[in-house]
Amino acid sequence: MEPAAARRVLLCSLCLALWCLRCAHGLPSSGNHDWKKLIMVHHWPATVCKEIENNCKNPPDYWTIHGLWADKAEKCNRSWHFNFNEIKDLLPDMKIYWPDVIHSSGNCTYFWKHEWEKHGTCAAQLDALGSQRKYFGKGLDLYKALALNSMLQKLGIVPSGNYYQISDIKDALASIYGVVPKVQCLPPKQGEEVQTLGQIELCFTKDLQLRNCTEPGEPEARRPEGQPAQPATGLEVCEDAPAFYPPPEEIKH
Ligand SMILES: *[C@@H]1O[C@H](CO)[C@@H](O)[C@H](O)[C@H]1NC(C)=O
Ligand SMILES: *[C@@H]1O[C@H](CO)[C@@H](O)[C@H](O)[C@H]1NC(C)=O
Ligand SMILES: *[C@@H]1O[C@H](CO)[C@@H](O)[C@H](O)[C@H]1NC(C)=O
Repeated sequence: MEPAAARRVLLCSLCLALWCLRCAHGLPSSGNHDWKKLIMVHHWPATVCKEIENNCKNPPDYWTIHGLWADKAEKCNRSWHFNFNEIKDLLPDMKIYWPDVIHSSGNCTYFWKHEWEKHGTCAAQLDALGSQRKYFGKGLDLYKALALNSMLQKLGIVPSGNYYQISDIKDALASIYGVVPKVQCLPPKQGEEVQTLGQIELCFTKDLQLRNCTEPGEPEARRPEGQPAQPATGLEVCEDAPAFYPPPEEIKH
């Protein structure tokens, strides 16, 4: 074979291999808006503030909603624009339970617009989530039904200077909800002893029934699913090791 032809063959095989890898990992490729589960993502505001090293003002001292995501799909309909007027009646609840932790002083609509356009337009394939009102309304309903804050409290898992074993947190959550959650942490920064608890995900089927966040037989992915391109978050699936669950006041500047 001519060297140039050989190079072409090699290049093609490489492309093919990369393409297959992409499939195998189920990364969203353009046009692929298939997804299997919904992920209710709660985040711990103190950790969000720490992560972006921003001077959040008085972050909430309870878990708030980050989003309701379809796994493996993003931005499913770029022409379905966010319209705040459709969720106006939800505003009081949205401000409490789904606040923009990072831009706390401003208007949350930027955060909600982002969540709608990136995740809502995919989740909206379900009738139960098929409008902006339904998507945000159902998100709030699921959050309230899960009642993560009171469950954690009941389990004795409260913000503390003492560390928790991640396996204890996961086991406790699994015992309450009957499914395997996904727990994410900020890896230790330089000079820190341990990871910091940041995000708790609970997963639902398309019928909005709780289900494991892992697939049967699947080992837990190290990289968070459903957010392959989220440069703003340094969160990763927690190491099976101790973690810091930071009291909000220790993060305030
Ligand atoms: C995308 O959203 C627009 C606006 O709601 C709608 O008219 C259109 O049918 C949607 N497209 C698809 C493919 O669902
Ligand atoms: C936020 O700002 C937008 C315009 O940028 C405005 O339409 C909306 O009413 C504001 N929302 C709140 C909750 O103040
Ligand atoms: C959920 O995970 C648990 C623990 O790994 C497992 O025993 C159970 O069979 C899983 N359920 C389903 C429906 O896969």
